Amino acid sequence: MQTAGVNHGARMRPFTSAQLLVIQRGFALLLIFCLAIGTLLAADIPTRAELDHLALQLAHHDELYYQQAQPEISDAAYDQLRARYAAIADELHVPAAERYGQMPGNDHAAGFTQVAHRVPMLSLDKVIYDHAGTAPERLIAWYDGAAGRKNLRERHDLPADADLSLLVEPKIDGVSLSCTYRAGRLVQALSRGDGVHGDDITAQILASGAVPAQVPAFTAGAIEIRGEIYLPHAAFRSLNEQLVASGNKPLVNERNGCAGLIKSQDASTLAGKGLRVFIYQVAWAEGFVLPTSQCALIRWLGDCGLPVIELGQRVANVQEAAAYCTSFLTRRNDLGYDIDGMVVKLDDRRLHDRLGATAHHPYWCIAFKFPPERISTRLLGVTAQVGRSGVLTPVAELEPVTLAKTTVRRASLHNWTKVERLRLRLGDQVWVEKAGEIIPQVLGVAEAGLGARIARPTHCPVCGQETLTEDVFIFCPNPLCPAQRKERLGHFASRRCLDIAGCGDALIAQLVDDRGVSSPAQLFTLTAQQLTGLTHLGDQKAAHFLAAIAQAKGRGLARVLAGLGLRLMGEKLADKLSAHFGSAQALLNLAQRFAEGDTTALAELTALQDIGEHTARLTLQELHQPTLRQVFAELAAAGVTLTHVGQRTRIVPGVTGKTFVLTGTLPTWGRKEAADFIKAAGGRCADAVTRKTDFVVVGTEAGTKRDKAQELGVTIIDEAALRRMLGQ
Ligand code: IVH
Repeated sequence: MQTAGVNHGARMRPFTSAQLLVIQRGFALLLIFCLAIGTLLAADIPTRAELDHLALQLAHHDELYYQQAQPEISDAAYDQLRARYAAIADELHVPAAERYGQMPGNDHAAGFTQVAHRVPMLSLDKVIYDHAGTAPERLIAWYDGAAGRKNLRERHDLPADADLSLLVEPKIDGVSLSCTYRAGRLVQALSRGDGVHGDDITAQILASGAVPAQVPAFTAGAIEIRGEIYLPHAAFRSLNEQLVASGNKPLVNERNGCAGLIKSQDASTLAGKGLRVFIYQVAWAEGFVLPTSQCALIRWLGDCGLPVIELGQRVANVQEAAAYCTSFLTRRNDLGYDIDGMVVKLDDRRLHDRLGATAHHPYWCIAFKFPPERISTRLLGVTAQVGRSGVLTPVAELEPVTLAKTTVRRASLHNWTKVERLRLRLGDQVWVEKAGEIIPQVLGVAEAGLGARIARPTHCPVCGQETLTEDVFIFCPNPLCPAQRKERLGHFASRRCLDIAGCGDALIAQLVDDRGVSSPAQLFTLTAQQLTGLTHLGDQKAAHFLAAIAQAKGRGLARVLAGLGLRLMGEKLADKLSAHFGSAQALLNLAQRFAEGDTTALAELTALQDIGEHTARLTLQELHQPTLRQVFAELAAAGVTLTHVGQRTRIVPGVTGKTFVLTGTLPTWGRKEAADFIKAAGGRCADAVTRKTDFVVVGTEAGTKRDKAQELGVTIIDEAALRRMLGQ
């Protein structure tokens, strides 16, 4: 297989000095120029393998961002990956049906009821404050065009007293939230979801205490208000202290911590976590006459007792707006919460509807996004990190530097082509960027160093095996390499796969290094004796771990398939294969037929929804690996279920496993009826309010039980909230 490096050399060879002598000078220069361009382009020859690898990376980052709320890379780095994927897919003429998910992701989470938004929750158009500082000009262009005088005057009749002032306010880096109040009570809280349907997080928001459960000023009608829920720095710090003290992983950052918290299945755990909300908008209202300016609306919402942004500034023109935006490039550090930019809005609300919207964003407002924070620091070295498929990823070792509130010592370099393109040398002063994610990226060289050029690794840093090169990847071909074994087992045991509680990196490392565990099946045959003496694993923890292992045996084929790390085998594909073919044996038989040249085997796969020919071929090849039969046989012998396990009974977040006490007369349900609904959703009903009670459902004339709940800090809800929690 050719590498970019080999290519480079081969293309330059025709230009020996002897040949140059006989070529006309101008012609030669032209040719050199063309070849130099060609060589540059050839350095990144796209291949199907790279495309597949990118798809896997995108799936991984989507999963982390949308499902686990724990991204590893910045939005900017993610956009780059997507752009590279699209460019290669175009170049290779990959049909749309075979491309990695075309639609942008959403924040829907499993186990939550989805509810249609009465008014779609759109996004914001944006200008980005890049380091060239052109954002203010682009803001002015927006104002002069889409939102400003020109457009309004040309396309619409401006009201005689139309006010083109702007309101500029911080753009809170949290999670969008919509709250509906009826007759003064919070009856529904929804996440943004995909903008059209949101997840019902009423129980979570009620328990968080971030917005008032009752707003007396709203008694006269119904209103849906929108805002951003966020985790202030102080709350983030104290949560992390508690998490670390109890042996858990700390939250990655404020935004992701917040996103994860509001999707907690167990709503009662949200009380006291310090989540806060800023309300900035009214989506619709019935029974109220709302102020006509955005400024006055915010003031009114504040007077009603809602938490609103206080740092908004009304300005007369877009130049002032741009100046106010830029002033927050430094002010942002003193706010006590994260903001990722500013939002500029036309203050006169009567103009909003006139201006209209695209499917993505309205024209009356725009985001002025801050650039990701970046800093330069010295490159001390480049190490190779071995992934579960053996791919060696370069990691920059840096002189520690503080960036976006944390100390950065290492940064990702993506692949070795990038290392070569940047011509990295030891001692280089490199630009490092971090935009709220945990893994910073090396952007480029700020000042070249004098040390040695960084070379591709010729041997695996962990097992010493000679490396191989395939396309743009360098990998360790030794399947027994301890680094790969740890990564593979970690993936197999992870939450989205076999979900073995307590099986973290530190334990895996000990199991591999000290107990010789090398295959997934060996996890299931571990004994108490083998666990004795491992660091940080007392008797009790060991017993819990063994129980978790026993439980994981029954998770079914889809989880096992996803856990084995076969190429392209993400959760979706694994689910599909498991549901359709039913057993590991059926899949092995299919792969066997394919290997023997039976073309109907391929057709059986491509007949399934969203499985293109390329994916089908690769999947069958992967399933035909000689070692896979052995792996399945060992797993079966260890008692692991290798057949399809259907969906677990529906878990109703906030209700399943919770204890409720009903008190007073409910508006529509009898007490018994409400109790039956709770029990049907896996909840319990008790008579007395104690510290163990999760929710007290109050109706009219609720007496001492309500007082007791208040005294003990138990969450109080009404019938409407209970209905929402039950998905009714
Ligand atoms: S106004 C059409 N104002 O930013 C949406 N949004 O990136 C009107 N956001 O989905 C939104 N702070 O969740 C507005 N002061 C602010 C905001 C804000 C944060 C969020 C909001 C929106 C996202 C778009």
